[in-house]
Amino acid sequence: MRRAACPGSFDPVTNGHLDVIARVSGLFDEVTVVVGINKSKDRLFSVDERLQMLTEATASYPNVRVDTFQGLLVDYCRANQIAVIVKGLRAVTDFDYELQMAQMNAGLAGIETMFMATNNMYSFLSSSLVKEVAMYGGDVSGLVPALVLDRLTAKLGRN
Ligand code: PNS
Repeated sequence: MRRAACPGSFDPVTNGHLDVIARVSGLFDEVTVVVGINKSKDRLFSVDERLQMLTEATASYPNVRVDTFQGLLVDYCRANQIAVIVKGLRAVTDFDYELQMAQMNAGLAGIETMFMATNNMYSFLSSSLVKEVAMYGGDVSGLVPALVLDRLTAKLGRN
């Protein structure tokens, strides 16, 4: 079985993430969207909330499952027989860091990384920008699924 992992923080999942996940699901037998747990980083949404939003947002893809991981991503991949990590690349600014991680992960465990070009509709989009715009009352309705928008609005006390 060809398995891939789509890792990230997903705080929260955006339409850009979902576009990549949908396209990866067409290329692999099973895709695991994995939420990295990094206790040292401040997050708007808890791990459970992020997991729940991802589960609902990917429910229409039968070969996509959602999970969490802590520690090294390559350890998670090895434990779950996942040979490939797929990351979306928005612009050349993403590339340096992503290449370093890809090479480190290949060196650590022989896990391959493949980069998927982000749809140009979403090349400017990030979870951080969505949160900032929403925090200041901007319209992010076209950037995240409705189920995320509802939670974002509730979380930021704007409903
Ligand atoms: O959405 P993000 O914040 O870009 O996701 C980053 C993430 C979670 C994919 C990355 O930080 C990661 O893989 N963390 C796990 C720790 C690890 O394996 N570090 C070594 C990478 S070479």
